[in-house]
Amino acid sequence: MIKLMDSEPEINGESEEGGSLTDCKGLVELRNVKFRYPTRPSVRVLRDLSMTILPGSYIAIVGASGSGKSTVVQLIERFYDPSSGQILLDGQDISELNVQDYRKQLALVSQEPTLYAGTIRFNVLLGAVKPVEEVSQEEIDRACKDANIYDFIMSLPKQFETEVGGKGSQLSGGQKQRIAIARALLRNPKVLLLDEATSALDSNSEKVVQDALDNAAKGRTTIAIAHRLSSIQNADCIYYIRDGRVAEAGTHDQLLRMRGGYYELVQLQALHKHKQ
Ligand SMILES: Nc1ncnc2c1ncn2[C@@H]1O[C@H](COP(=O)(O)OP(=O)(O)OP(=O)(O)O)[C@@H](O)[C@H]1O
Ligand SMILES: [Mg+2]
Repeated sequence: MIKLMDSEPEINGESEEGGSLTDCKGLVELRNVKFRYPTRPSVRVLRDLSMTILPGSYIAIVGASGSGKSTVVQLIERFYDPSSGQILLDGQDISELNVQDYRKQLALVSQEPTLYAGTIRFNVLLGAVKPVEEVSQEEIDRACKDANIYDFIMSLPKQFETEVGGKGSQLSGGQKQRIAIARALLRNPKVLLLDEATSALDSNSEKVVQDALDNAAKGRTTIAIAHRLSSIQNADCIYYIRDGRVAEAGTHDQLLRMRGGYYELVQLQALHKHKQ
């Protein structure tokens, strides 16, 4: 089977060890997490990061490039373990849970969605947590509808059997992202991780992708890394990260009133918009 992730440096994803999860609620906590990449021990990426993310809530992580946002997502996925501190799901330390079982609760739509040469069906099915023979067409259709990509697929002569080309080269950026969202939704995850693409989409396909993400977030804990601040104004909580710590946390309005780092980011983006 093709791995969705190219690199699993630290943790053995096939390990049979660890406790199992039943009836996951989707409460995610980070407690005083410190982290350095093993390959670059001189850089303290996360210095003391804490967050409590309630089941079903939508939270956003913002901060400058290189501030550690994608690193947080990698730690939640357990591609690495924190140097110190804890990450918990429903109150259980994730390092004590069975990795395969744990990862079944999660889905990631990454910063650069990875598609593989093969059909659309093949690319969506990569998300399946059960054997692909057991996934019904209905489930595939539902994931694609929720990801706003179903009508596009149906408009193609070969529909789900359409070849996407190497790395999805025959699709647009927005179409690739929506296939990646469908793949994530096929998992029906308790916790959805969204690492928003930095590469700009045109505003029309941006809206279609945004609608797909809003749909995808319904009924599950969603942790979104946002570069376009306009997309997170309704988040239950926004965490502004600086120097490896949560520097500010609150709703969009609360953070604006603080007139701190988040406020400055918003001003900067508004300025860029005007210049365009
Ligand atoms: N695999 C890695 N090995 C070593 N250092 C890394 C690795 N990945 C990221 N880093 C470093 O960790 C820091 C945080 O990177 P991270 O990718 O988490 O930032 P980010 O906030 O997601 O940035 P962006 O907004 O540009 O996506 C950076 O200094 C980066 O160079
Ligand atoms: Mg990143």
